[in-house]
Amino acid sequence: NTIPILTIDGPSGVGKGTVARIVAQKQNWNLLDSGAIYRAFALTVDARKIDISNEEALEKIAQTIDLEFKTKLGNELVSVYLNGKDVSNILRTEKIGGMASKIASIGMVRATLLKWQKDFAKAPGLVADGRDMGTTVFPNALFKVYLTASADERANRRLRQMQMQGSKGIISQILAKVKVRDKHDSLRKYSPLKPAKDALIIDTTKLSIDEVITQVVALIEA
Ligand code: C5P
Repeated sequence: NTIPILTIDGPSGVGKGTVARIVAQKQNWNLLDSGAIYRAFALTVDARKIDISNEEALEKIAQTIDLEFKTKLGNELVSVYLNGKDVSNILRTEKIGGMASKIASIGMVRATLLKWQKDFAKAPGLVADGRDMGTTVFPNALFKVYLTASADERANRRLRQMQMQGSKGIISQILAKVKVRDKHDSLRKYSPLKPAKDALIIDTTKLSIDEVITQVVALIEA
């Protein structure tokens, strides 16, 4: 497999999505937002009122999920379609994020979604962001990055993002949620959040998006 792949992993709210989108756009590569898959899964479970301990029902969803990403090259926005309906905005809510984190700890769900994610590796290249892109989904990727930032900084970024979208947030509550999600994602048994051994670790606490992108692009072009 000679398709160049860049994996970007890290905790929630670190800016992976933004960095992945801009780098994919610069390189003209495909993009995989793996978090959106787990979120769409959570949305389906929520809509059908399925109990997340019902593994059989979850497996059925994993096998039949009708999910489509519409990315236009040269367009920064990625729309997510679930059963033909644009769900991009609903997917980004905290409620769905929290549910996604719970569902993502189920080994069977991760195993079923694995092949689906691998299929995104298409010419001329792929930028994949998530928690286990460099460790589990694309262990042979040519380029691996792991982004971190303090929990306080990530909560602040989320607050600013919410404010830009016109909604209010309370910093202490956001920080508490960030910490819960960190704990869930790093302590789980299957594909816990951790840097791949060969990943470049970038602490973005004091860096701007542009500074992070410069480092990531330098890695690809080196
Ligand atoms: O990145 P995002 O916040 O959209 O992901 C939502 C949740 O999906 C995460 O908290 C994590 O539990 C899960 N996830 C995962 N593996 C990935 C991407 C996301 O477990 N590769």
